[in-house]
Amino acid sequence: MSSVSGLENVIAAQTKLSHVDGQAGELIIAGYPLEELAPNATYEQSLYLLWNGVLPNPQQLNELKENLRQHLDLPEITRYVLKEAARAKLPPMDALRMAISTLAVVDLQPQSDSLEANRNRAILIVAKAPVIVGNYWRLRQGQEMLAPNPELGQAGQFLYLVHGKEPDPEFVRALDTYWSTVIDHGLNASTFTARVITSTLSDIFSAITGAIGALKGPLHGGAPGPALDMVFEIGTPEQAEPHLRQKLVDGARLMGFGHRIYKVRDPRADVLAAAAERLFERAGDRSLYDLARSVEQTALKLLEEFKPGRHLETNVEFYTALVLHGIGLKPDLFSAVFAVGRMGGWIAHVFEQLEHNRLIRPQSEYVGPTGRTWSNSSAV
Ligand code: ACO
Repeated sequence: MSSVSGLENVIAAQTKLSHVDGQAGELIIAGYPLEELAPNATYEQSLYLLWNGVLPNPQQLNELKENLRQHLDLPEITRYVLKEAARAKLPPMDALRMAISTLAVVDLQPQSDSLEANRNRAILIVAKAPVIVGNYWRLRQGQEMLAPNPELGQAGQFLYLVHGKEPDPEFVRALDTYWSTVIDHGLNASTFTARVITSTLSDIFSAITGAIGALKGPLHGGAPGPALDMVFEIGTPEQAEPHLRQKLVDGARLMGFGHRIYKVRDPRADVLAAAAERLFERAGDRSLYDLARSVEQTALKLLEEFKPGRHLETNVEFYTALVLHGIGLKPDLFSAVFAVGRMGGWIAHVFEQLEHNRLIRPQSEYVGPTGRTWSNSSAV
């Protein structure tokens, strides 16, 4: 494989948003260790931090919430697209990708590329994203869309729409922790996509739509559903070893393990494991949590046996699956819930890219044939 494969170790941007230290297993979000931020911050606080570089005071937080509250309603075209997507039984990530691009119709200043116009676009995208995914889930279950409840924050709104009832505050706390955990993570594939699109001076709707497409794949944001399926298939701690061994013998990848940057345990896994444990403890049934812990230990042991020296450790997706299951969400929804949380980070990167923009345009190394000559017979 070529040394440039996957752009490993290539630094392609400078950022003040987050720092991933793959050797130490540390993640810093705008100066805060993840372990301090995620269990305490609401998603709105994390959003403000990334967009402004500092945490908000109470007045600034209220202004942000008010701003978001004013943009909850979905335009007619978005509702239509969601209904058609549900009729075609498309996955929530496809519906989200299609719906985000329709939001250009409610852009207040479509001709402007001013900072203010982009800030307005950012607010309307973030405000509507949980409403899009929550209501799409309802449509997929054969239910009617619900009007968003302006009293609720981002996490509460999403849970209200999915479950159709007042959200449980513990579930809201867990989702705030999850979204604050995944809001940003260096120059991952989807964030890079958003920055590349922005660097051409395209628009923010295109950047976010492209990023959703990049996140969808199973090597990036598509892993938590399969990770949970794997735990359910295993069923009991005794089955973990034969089941996982067979997978590795068959050459399959274990979902929720391995990472391009982390060569030690992903720090997000610990934050989310603690959130998951709280949820399962409170529900009075730890069995799935304990099973997942035991599957994790077996997987790590077998990965070291099958891929010695590769340092394949638990990544964020394994415990994402448990947290999202713990708050009553189905695996089909997991990637789209991830996308809604990561959206705040993508948008922060769009702004950062615009601030010091230069077209991102790497080179390729030509390895094809040379010296061919044209003859009429070769065109037949
Ligand atoms: N299970 C089994 N083997 C693995 C795994 C895994 N989860 N991950 C990597 N490997 C193996 C590869 O087969 C390869 O082995 P080889 O050299 O013998 O062929 C070696 O480890 C290196 O793998 P690469 O694909 O080169 O590593 P890369 O850095 O490109 O991959 C990735 C990182 C895509 C996350 C990979 O570890 C993987 O596929 N994991 C499973 C999917 C997953 O959990 N994705 C979520 C990632 S977190 C996120 O994006 C939010």
